[in-house]
Amino acid sequence: MKKYLITGCAGFIGSNFVHYMLKKYPEILLVNLDKLTYAGNLENLKDVEGDPRHVFVQGDICDKELVESLFAKYDFDYVINFAAESHVDRSIKNPEIFVQSNVMGTVNLLQRAKEAWYDADAKTWKEGKKYLQVSTDEVYGALGAEGFFMETTPLCPHSPYSSSKASADMFVMAFHDTYGMPINITRCSNNYGPYQFPEKLIPLMINNVKHHKQLPVYGDGMQIRDWLYVEDHCKAIDMVCNGGKVGEVYNVGGHNERPNIFIVKTIIEQLHDRLKDDGISEDLIKHVADRLGHDRRYGIDPTKIKNDLGWYPETPFEKGIVLTIDWYLDHEEWMEHITSGNYQKYYEEMYKNK
Ligand code: NAD
Ligand code: TYD
Repeated sequence: MKKYLITGCAGFIGSNFVHYMLKKYPEILLVNLDKLTYAGNLENLKDVEGDPRHVFVQGDICDKELVESLFAKYDFDYVINFAAESHVDRSIKNPEIFVQSNVMGTVNLLQRAKEAWYDADAKTWKEGKKYLQVSTDEVYGALGAEGFFMETTPLCPHSPYSSSKASADMFVMAFHDTYGMPINITRCSNNYGPYQFPEKLIPLMINNVKHHKQLPVYGDGMQIRDWLYVEDHCKAIDMVCNGGKVGEVYNVGGHNERPNIFIVKTIIEQLHDRLKDDGISEDLIKHVADRLGHDRRYGIDPTKIKNDLGWYPETPFEKGIVLTIDWYLDHEEWMEHITSGNYQKYYEEMYKNK
């Protein structure tokens, strides 16, 4: 039975990964270390409560003693690091916490894994171990109208968030180059789907449309993101962890580039038709001040993961967006729990001067 240390899996992608893995593998142990920041939510894991294959530990990936004790207790085969501060707008307001969690946290995990898996005298690594860093296409910076991000594209991050992720990637690669640590890095494009915190574009717009609130579109709304249904990302991480060649980076994306304004108009149209509500229209759109340093376009070339591992995205955008809207409509209580309380304060602060 494989034993995984998975971090940050009370958040959006991580909780989807827990569901994906428990469905796929009857025998597995997932030890989920999560600090439960504002983005971590145990409600995301409600339906796996009581499943002995998933053990939740509340704690910080920066905590040396805690991570050491987990390695001693479980003798992990794999570490998959999802834990991170993940919102660009928050990183523009408060970059320090991004350095702490995303960079220092990653280095702590690498060090603890090295201590557990490396025999310094024999200069050998225990068989079958691997550290996988869940990274992002944002480390490559922004594209013009042409071309795609390849694994060989130089890192050129612009936001404090993407800079912290790029820095973490470099430490992961440094552990491979310096000590021969068995690692992989995945760099995925924008995800969407169930359990995403409504500070990100798609759930934020679904929630605002539903409540007839203004839809804050940054700048001209013509920035392009390459959207991937979250389950396809989970599948890629599993494939890279279990089959990826040690030391390699894999880009993950489904050639699904859309301008933000297209996404917003799609959500308006879908909800208008579904809820039969004429109060839902494009009049809700409000173009607001652009994000500082806003990357214009992201686009992934996924040829390597397709050719080497046989990964392909199973959910086309037209299907994925319907599944996503359905999920948020069916989980009103989940959304209400998040958007009451602190979220209101966040929203007012972030959007008041836009
Ligand atoms: P998220 O913000 O929804 O969840 C992050 C989780 O990490 C939360 O549960 C939070 O409590 C936890 N966390 C934060 N700091 C921690 C710390 N110091 N110690 C332990 N836990 C901590 O993020 P997400 O969207 O699920 O993203 C997960 C990972 O995937 C991140 O590393 C992100 O950079 C990467 N990624 C995200 C996307 C996307 O579109 N969301 C795309 C590509 C890559
Ligand atoms: P986001 O979901 O924050 O992801 P990322 O910044 O990691 O790509 O934003 C996606 C795009 O949507 C990005 O170009 C910024 C834009 N955006 C808006 O126009 N309005 C909003 O209120 C938000 C949150 C994002």
